[in-house]
Amino acid sequence: MQDNYHREINYLRVSVTDRCNLRCFYCLPPHGVQSIPHEEVLRLEEMTRLVQAAALVGVKKVRLTGGEPLVRKGLTAFVEALAAVPEIDDLAMTTNGILLAERAKELKAAGLKRVNVSLDSLRPEKYARITRGGDLAKVWAGIETALALEMHPVKLNTVLLKGLNDDEIVDLAGLSRQFPLHIRFIELMPVGTCKPWAADYFLSAGQARETIEQNLGALHEVRKLAGSGPARYYRLPGAPGTIGFIPAVSDHFCDRCNRLRLTASGGLRSCLYDEREVDVKSALRRGAPLEELARLVARAIALKPGRHHMGEAGEGGGQKAMSRIGG
Ligand code: 5AD
Ligand code: SF4
Repeated sequence: MQDNYHREINYLRVSVTDRCNLRCFYCLPPHGVQSIPHEEVLRLEEMTRLVQAAALVGVKKVRLTGGEPLVRKGLTAFVEALAAVPEIDDLAMTTNGILLAERAKELKAAGLKRVNVSLDSLRPEKYARITRGGDLAKVWAGIETALALEMHPVKLNTVLLKGLNDDEIVDLAGLSRQFPLHIRFIELMPVGTCKPWAADYFLSAGQARETIEQNLGALHEVRKLAGSGPARYYRLPGAPGTIGFIPAVSDHFCDRCNRLRLTASGGLRSCLYDEREVDVKSALRRGAPLEELARLVARAIALKPGRHHMGEAGEGGGQKAMSRIGG
């Protein structure tokens, strides 16, 4: 279905939990956030029903996010249920990768097509510092497992952090020459925990691209990858993988945005940066028919703003933690 700005909305991101087994310093405060009370979180059966309703109004692509999706019990059965929705032709997951090595095989068998793995550093100590305790070896094992299972395209998400991982941009980009990996550099967005100080760590996608070209040579733009949303992709000569840039802040791509978000607590959001939510939990809990749920999805689509105003003076959005909205 089209929104009021003639954008075809066909992509739903489902935050299956607000919990996470890491505490990335830009996403969560040191001691974490109060998690949503258990009974407030949608059951996976409820989420399945909402996806079925969304499919009725044109959603074709679903991505599972969190928090960390792999900490949610019952995820494999959920994937199986979503894979059975005939309209859904792309089913992917964004994960921090810690539990991926042990779960990838069963998830693929259940119908998960591909994964995006978050990886902000290739150095174990620094990775542990950024994630407050994460074990890089586990993440790398997860990435290797996804490659071995041919869950292509396997994408890596790297948040650009000035003074922290700017010295690794070249190494990270270089992975695309060794492996069929698609490394995407994402600008740090001033949302949730990092909102007050995000500017201190901000490094633009343009700067990252310059660093890569200076060190590795010219980048050539390539055609769209499967499921490529806002990223633009480039390839180094002869590389099996690609390098992408997501200029989330410096060049908002709202005019090409095709997504909706379902929060773990049952709110439909039409924009990452818009606090308004359409409550779908109440309708789900009183057993509303699919048609009624589909009307709620349509309402959320109609609410979708033309663009966000992130980072502009006087704007007040982006208060809610990323771990609650699902990135
Ligand atoms: N800005 C940009 N990316 C972020 N992520 C989490 N918080 C932010 C932020 N403020 C990323 C994670 C992960 C994805 C789900 O979102 O690192 O790759
Ligand atoms: Fe967890 Fe992702 Fe937030 Fe890191 S960015 S704490 S992995 S939800």
